[in-house]
Amino acid sequence: MSEFEDIFGVQPEVEASAPGRVNLLGEHTDYNDGYVLPIAIPQRTQVELSRSPDEWSRFRSMNMEGLVQYRAGGVFPSGFAAYLAGCFEVLREEVVNVVTPVNLLVRSDVPIGAGLSSSAALEVAALRGLRELFHIAVNDVNIALLAQQAEIRFAGVRCGIMDQMAASLADERHMLFLDTRTLERRLLPLPEHSELVVLDSGVPCRLAGSAYNQRRAECEEASRRLGVVALRDVRDAATANVLPEPLNRRVRHVVTENRRVLDAVSGVSAVEFGKLMNASHASLRDDFEVSVPELDCLVELLQKHPDVYGARLTGAEFGGACVALARTGRGYKVGKEVLVAYQAKGYYGSVLVA
Ligand code: GLA
Repeated sequence: MSEFEDIFGVQPEVEASAPGRVNLLGEHTDYNDGYVLPIAIPQRTQVELSRSPDEWSRFRSMNMEGLVQYRAGGVFPSGFAAYLAGCFEVLREEVVNVVTPVNLLVRSDVPIGAGLSSSAALEVAALRGLRELFHIAVNDVNIALLAQQAEIRFAGVRCGIMDQMAASLADERHMLFLDTRTLERRLLPLPEHSELVVLDSGVPCRLAGSAYNQRRAECEEASRRLGVVALRDVRDAATANVLPEPLNRRVRHVVTENRRVLDAVSGVSAVEFGKLMNASHASLRDDFEVSVPELDCLVELLQKHPDVYGARLTGAEFGGACVALARTGRGYKVGKEVLVAYQAKGYYGSVLVA
């Protein structure tokens, strides 16, 4: 008997999945209408679904204890089930009101709290499953937009569109270059002679929700003062000098980070790409202030490694993972060696992708 049948007493009718992502460049630019460059990671979230026999939806995650029950208009669940119920509600309100309750089982190996978008993977997988189960005509971009609505409205994070677009449209072999204002996008190969290493700092992302919303509010305040629709419209970082601290540095980060993404997709070598990643980390650490000492230490160890072109923190941060561009075939060795050095400084990290 399958796990699904064991839990819900029926066979699943459909299954769907979506990957986590690692962002290579373009951090905290998406809610400023800017450019981003994520790529899918091998870890995925998979869902199985069937229609429920009654008015209750039932959600179960193999990563957690217990079954969560939810019915429209009832108490809204928390934790992983909030994302699922959120997707359900958004779909029902914005697309079709014939979506009926479901049984839904989640399996995932996307690390949680590491800045690799486990929530977007869950939302997109669930929406794909619901699309198939109820034969709903929504395309992959709409799936991403619905997933973003679910996150903003029901998980309370005023996120941009990067993670959900990556979960819905990226693959593991190409970087997804996305203009978050127009949603125009291109899939591009990694620079020649390079591969990715993703390491976890061992520090869970702290304060991510509240500090994230605060950064976003600062960027909105800066655009208002500069008289632009979004910081994407500021071309020259020196424009920010008229603003008080810390708004001036927030703007400088966004403007220079957008430039780095555009430079990175202009066909640069792995060496140049690596320098852009290093500059991105410094900007996130000093101007945007979203790093923590453990991540700075891990990134510095990566940057010093002879087989690494460049490294930076990735995701919203205040903990979690960092990403490096390494010489082809050396990624795993880089990860292992750097973690030994990290441990010698009293920290415990792990290799997530290499
Ligand atoms: C989180 C958000 C994204 C993006 C990143 C920072 O992952 O969900 O929309 O803003 O942080 O680049």
